Amino acid sequence: MSKTIVIAFANNKGGSGKTTTCSNVGCALALEGKKVLMIDGDMQLNLTISFFDEEKAYEYAKGDKNIYRAVVGEADLSDYIVETEIEGLDIVPSTSLMSSIEFDLFAKWQRESVLKKCLERVRAKGYYDYILIDSPPTLGGWVMNVMCASDYVVIPVEASPWGLFGLANMFDFCDQAKRIAPKLEILGIAVTKADERKKYFKQTMETLREMEAAPLFENYVRVDSAVEWAQDNSKPVVAYKKSSRSAVEYTKLAKEIIEYAHRKERN
Ligand SMILES: Nc1ncnc2c1ncn2[C@@H]1O[C@H](COP(=O)(O)OP(=O)(O)OP(=O)(O)O)[C@@H](O)[C@H]1O
Ligand SMILES: [Mg+2]
Repeated sequence: MSKTIVIAFANNKGGSGKTTTCSNVGCALALEGKKVLMIDGDMQLNLTISFFDEEKAYEYAKGDKNIYRAVVGEADLSDYIVETEIEGLDIVPSTSLMSSIEFDLFAKWQRESVLKKCLERVRAKGYYDYILIDSPPTLGGWVMNVMCASDYVVIPVEASPWGLFGLANMFDFCDQAKRIAPKLEILGIAVTKADERKKYFKQTMETLREMEAAPLFENYVRVDSAVEWAQDNSKPVVAYKKSSRSAVEYTKLAKEIIEYAHRKERN
């Protein structure tokens, strides 16, 4: 039985590609035969609707099988997991009730570690190779929970001027999280929605490569309309259109992310 590795996908910049990267990396790993649990930590439900149609997603959101019920009830997350159509890939869905999670966490004992405790049993069982957590575009108590429950953080960044603006806040937030979870590490920055034709893209990559706070993954994902078609069909692009450019790129990125994680685990 191998150790379950927990990876958070986080960036306070909205629309930086967190959910698309998280869903595709998770799906790519499951398609390679790994056991993957995804946790939708965002009230927008985007990770949930990456795998289910709206009707099903709302059913989970309005029912008991969602992250909010688990965290507020400080319960074992095992009871909140649902299967997706993809073999080996399970998910804890989200709900719009997550809009009040900051308030709900406030009165809790050791409020930064509630999600970590909910995950303890799932981790201890060692059934999953990877647990991937998608987070909202905020830096508050809930995302602190996501960080403290994780071994590593992947920061998806859009290759645009505003995509880089504010990254320093993200690094500071990770430093704060490390005070509570000393083993937490930034695994790397994943560039998304890249457009190589733009001069600015090259400059962005150079800036990111020179950053000391986090390594840059070699593989990046270019803008591809197949991503949106896939989302419209409630599937990650790696499952919807395997031959598409973005599916190939996400699969390579997934391999690189996992290689980085395993290298760190060995050290
Ligand atoms: N490689 C890509 N090609 C084309 N569109 C993409 C690609 N990656 C992401 N997108 C689109 O960009 C938008 C933002 O992506 P996504 O929702 O993954 O970002 P996010 O960081 O999770 O956003 P939020 O901060 O709101 O949670 C979505 O509409 C998505 O379809
Ligand atoms: Mg998102």
